[in-house]
Amino acid sequence: MPETLYATVFQALWLFLPAYLANMAPVFVGGGKPVDGGRVWKDGRRMLGDGKTWRGLLLGPLAAALVMLLFVAGRPLLVAIFRIEFEDLGPLLVAIPVFYVLGFGALAGDATESFFKRRIGKERGARWLGFDQLDFVVGAFVLGFALAYPWMIARWTLARVLAIVILTPALHLIVNYIGWKIGKKDVPW
Ligand code: CTP
Ligand code: MG
Repeated sequence: MPETLYATVFQALWLFLPAYLANMAPVFVGGGKPVDGGRVWKDGRRMLGDGKTWRGLLLGPLAAALVMLLFVAGRPLLVAIFRIEFEDLGPLLVAIPVFYVLGFGALAGDATESFFKRRIGKERGARWLGFDQLDFVVGAFVLGFALAYPWMIARWTLARVLAIVILTPALHLIVNYIGWKIGKKDVPW
């Protein structure tokens, strides 16, 4: 029996949680030395900019993996609330590295986007609609399928991937607006 749309959406959000958490984490754990070390590209602009730091890139996925432990522990509660059997994420010895890979992929995608953002002349924090919302989605899926193929293919269906691609831009805009309201982000996007 095919999955209902409701189940597809919630399974997808559940499985993508490590990437969402990692994408939010740098505003809490980031800062310090920028990944580009202050270096400037041939066009005279920064390679990535001060918004992409080593702490964000490396500790962000770690923070996400740790927070995932709380969600794994809370899974029975989520099952009771949403009334769907959320996917088992597997043994923690495998799942935690996979969470890190998904989180790192998300933030590598975000940093890649910043590279291209600088090349077209957009300063740190400037808005690039579409790209700001999906950079980390592409990064997480690419690295996830590249490095954790068996884990990913056992859980992701095409419908679930599409649910993420379609829903993430809206979710992203809402979460960033909240981040700006609570003073964690300089701009509301
Ligand atoms: N951040 C970080 N390290 C990262 C990614 C993000 O420290 N690898 C922190 C920075 O303080 C950044 C904030 O998280 O300002 C929000 O991230 P994002 O919105 O992606 O960065 P922007 O400042 O908008 O920069 P850019 O224009 O390069 O996307
Ligand atoms: Mg970005």
